[in-house]
Amino acid sequence: MSRKLFITTALPYANGNFHIGHIMEYIQADIWVRFQRMQGNAVNFVGADDTHGAPIMIAAEKAGKTPQQFVADIAAGRQKYLDGFHISFDNWHSTDAPENHELARQIYCDLRDRADGSLIETRTIEQFFDPEKNMFLPDRYIKGECPKCHAKDQYGDNCEVCGSVYAPTDLINPYSALSGARPELKNSEHFFFKLSDPRCVEFLEKWTQDGKLQPEVANKIKEWFTVRTNPDGSTSEGLGDWDISRDAPYFGIEIPDAPGKYFYVWLDAPVGYLASLKNLLNKRAELDPQSPSYADYMVDPSLEQYHFIGKDIVTFHTLFWPAMLHFSGRKTPDNVFVHGFLTVNNGEKMSKSRGTGLDPLKYLSLGMNPE
Ligand code: 2FM
Ligand code: ZN
Repeated sequence: MSRKLFITTALPYANGNFHIGHIMEYIQADIWVRFQRMQGNAVNFVGADDTHGAPIMIAAEKAGKTPQQFVADIAAGRQKYLDGFHISFDNWHSTDAPENHELARQIYCDLRDRADGSLIETRTIEQFFDPEKNMFLPDRYIKGECPKCHAKDQYGDNCEVCGSVYAPTDLINPYSALSGARPELKNSEHFFFKLSDPRCVEFLEKWTQDGKLQPEVANKIKEWFTVRTNPDGSTSEGLGDWDISRDAPYFGIEIPDAPGKYFYVWLDAPVGYLASLKNLLNKRAELDPQSPSYADYMVDPSLEQYHFIGKDIVTFHTLFWPAMLHFSGRKTPDNVFVHGFLTVNNGEKMSKSRGTGLDPLKYLSLGMNPE
């Protein structure tokens, strides 16, 4: 009997064109997708742009565009890469599309309103605020002197000179990388997904250790159930709760019943997989009334769901995402396929500035074979 498969690759940030690492992942997934189709299996293979978050909002401002215009301009450049490398996506969508706003808010409400006790909780946290820009600063937008080695102009979370990890509040003479102003500490209410709740821990221990994941991946995840590193470099036991909110101004999806609060980009990004699928099925149903609705498609217990991702985003796909889906009453992925990084010169990351990057369009323009 033919299988019914829903397959995705990681959604790229809409702040730059594809690099060769994106294309490598898409080709890897595409090979598997084509194989499945040749076997007679029914595949929906989708992608989308990951559009939200502070870096994109700030890049748009610098470019003198609205975030919406900024991500639309990036999206307009996608097709020539996908066509050039013969990637057979059935749909390409956006995490800023209405389907994603609606699905992300619904999933959040399902987590919040659980009959056996909410998995969402609010807490007041202290954070650096830029008084000139009038916004809370993500760690990477706070710079200052390293508290350990006293190197100047280090980021708020770790020192690139001595390698120490600390909290932004430990920096000496901190300043905002956006305005140069001295940031002030301010309180703000944040929303947390209670991953440390015994229900989540029990579910995730099973989901990650039942043998489906690659052994290297499952072993790495095991460490996260025992110890975690806090922002100040200290360690605590077990899974921590996940901070899923950000304060305005933020380019993202507003949290239901919480004006001025937005979902952290990583909350709505994987929901974009479902939003792209929903958009595809809606378009098909318009052309052919026999074609299944999104709800009918998802409710089929034989549906299999697979994500291709890089090793840097394993936490999001093997802890946060399955937990969001399971505890909101949805189907969880059947597997997550994890690849490493493309490197040059004995393991160095490819880098545009060092001249070791490979532009996929350049590759094509040289007449190299995309297959
Ligand atoms: O790491 C990244 O590039 C993210 N934009 C991947 C998101 S994958 C999914 F969750 F949307
Ligand atoms: Zn240092």
